[in-house]
Amino acid sequence: MKATAIAPSNIAFIKYWGKIDENLRIPTNGSISMNLSNLLTTTTVEFSKDFEKDSVIIDGNTIKNETNRVITHLDRIRKMAQINMKARVLSKNNFPSSTGLSSSASGFAALTVAASKAGGLNLKEKELSILARIASGSACRSIPSGFVEWSPGTTNDTSYAVSIFPPDWWNIVDIVAVISNNKKEYSTSDGQKLASSSPFFDLRLQNIGKKLREIKEFIKQKNFIKFGEMVEKEALEMHAVMLTSNPSLIYWQPETLRLMKLIQAWKEEGLSVYFTINTGQDIHLICEEKNIKEVKKRLSDLQFVRKIIINKPDQGARIIGDHLF
Ligand code: PMV
Repeated sequence: MKATAIAPSNIAFIKYWGKIDENLRIPTNGSISMNLSNLLTTTTVEFSKDFEKDSVIIDGNTIKNETNRVITHLDRIRKMAQINMKARVLSKNNFPSSTGLSSSASGFAALTVAASKAGGLNLKEKELSILARIASGSACRSIPSGFVEWSPGTTNDTSYAVSIFPPDWWNIVDIVAVISNNKKEYSTSDGQKLASSSPFFDLRLQNIGKKLREIKEFIKQKNFIKFGEMVEKEALEMHAVMLTSNPSLIYWQPETLRLMKLIQAWKEEGLSVYFTINTGQDIHLICEEKNIKEVKKRLSDLQFVRKIIINKPDQGARIIGDHLF
């Protein structure tokens, strides 16, 4: 009983920040994202009567904690599949984890698809998205293909993500500038709990429905400038909530801010590029395919940019034939 899945991370254009249900990870608002073709997790899961205990290795590190989120998720899947065999899990990211590049989204999407298949469950996309969401909210958006919308719902069965446009709908690019490999100081899960302590949180929720409608329209029309302007403002709005929560969350490094200012200056000079950022120091630069070379060149000239990762819109999580063991 063995299966392997590959899953992309995703970048949210309209962000998920705040939950109405902590345990089920039901968000306060909907979000819209794009799967990223070059931020990938590959995971093999095997259930066997021969295993005496669960073994989980992620990027070469053995997970020792029994209450780990991976083991909790395996328990969930074992319960659904009505099996009690122990599991062997081997997982690899092709990018640095815990620096704000959403390795939990790709990681838990790959684990959900591989473990449910290995457990003999044949789940549909909606069921996989729901299951991935319980493990890590944004992972539900890495299950469907291309450009994706997560409808917040109010219950377990109504909170899941669907594809709104296929990957080849629009040839925009997400260029990740890795600023540092330092792990972030506050986990996203802990940070999310503070969202409602910001005086700006309610205001954000009042306008979010309109933003979701508008961004879908901009993607549909392929209106890059309106889309980019909204993406950049949205990232800053989410960070305004983080900065003003209690205690305050500052996820940026000085270089993060430096790069934001440079991107704004490049825009003034006529280069159409926008940024977005999650809970970490690394920045996602969004541009059209025709500008990849120029953006890449400008980033390469910056000493503090340690790595550049170019992503196109990708398919969702899928089963593959090549196992990791
Ligand atoms: O799914 P989580 O708990 O890793 O939260 C993701 C939160 C953000 O990345 C900041 C925003 C988003 O919608 O991806």
